[in-house]
Amino acid sequence: MAKKHELSSTNGNLPKHVAIIMDGNGRWAKKKSLPRIAGHRAGVKALQKIVNFSAKEGIKVLTVYAFSSENWKRPRTEVSMLMELFTTSLQQRFKELHHNNVRLRFIGDLSSFPEKLRQSMTDTEHLTTNNTGLKLVVAVNYGGRWDITNAFKALHKKISDEVMAADDISEDLIGEFMCLSDLPEPDLFIRTGGEKRISNYLLWQLAYTELYFDDCLWPDFDTASLETALQWYAGRERRFGRTSEQIEHA
Ligand code: FPP
Repeated sequence: MAKKHELSSTNGNLPKHVAIIMDGNGRWAKKKSLPRIAGHRAGVKALQKIVNFSAKEGIKVLTVYAFSSENWKRPRTEVSMLMELFTTSLQQRFKELHHNNVRLRFIGDLSSFPEKLRQSMTDTEHLTTNNTGLKLVVAVNYGGRWDITNAFKALHKKISDEVMAADDISEDLIGEFMCLSDLPEPDLFIRTGGEKRISNYLLWQLAYTELYFDDCLWPDFDTASLETALQWYAGRERRFGRTSEQIEHA
């Protein structure tokens, strides 16, 4: 189906895969004298708008960091409220996602989550498995080092089972054992909230990704903010180690 319009100033140069760290929910709530969970709730609303917009514009994959391996260190009440919010958001927003042809996937160590939440996650994955639009990947209890460690464990097992030899190890082979190996690597990384770090997110997959930082707090990140990021991305020259001249004459 033809797209209704093309984003202005991107010349059709849209990233296929956008990876986001949605930072700043707590500060957003504090600024409004609200409890931190109100910031996370507003964060879910912001995410829904970004998902709908990305799907409409033809972005293929959106990977969002909803809960890092390190987030367990937060106060117990915040962690349990976040778990509750994930479960209710999945139930309440599922219809809209499905209607918009979005396919959901969760990455991370799901084993430490409450059973009810794990069930919601697998249910939404199964129910949206035939959707052909935007792939929405939610990273929960995910860490880039966890991902790399898992890849090494899996590779080690293959070698001990003599399915492959140590000499077969290559960057491509390691990559095959990492999360998201079936998807294009992220072209654009966005972090809101003013911090300029990757915080153990997709360490392997972000090797050549364009990094964009926005000072605004995640609940305030709207479709206009995303358009600005996409326009910035469209102006980047991605050289992957080559020179500008090589890119121009390719
Ligand atoms: C970081 O802000 C945000 C989080 C740890 C949670 C993000 C989760 C959501 C937006 C909900 C996603 C929901 C689903 C169902 C995918 P922060 O708390 O670190 O903010 P701060 O730096 O201002 O304290």
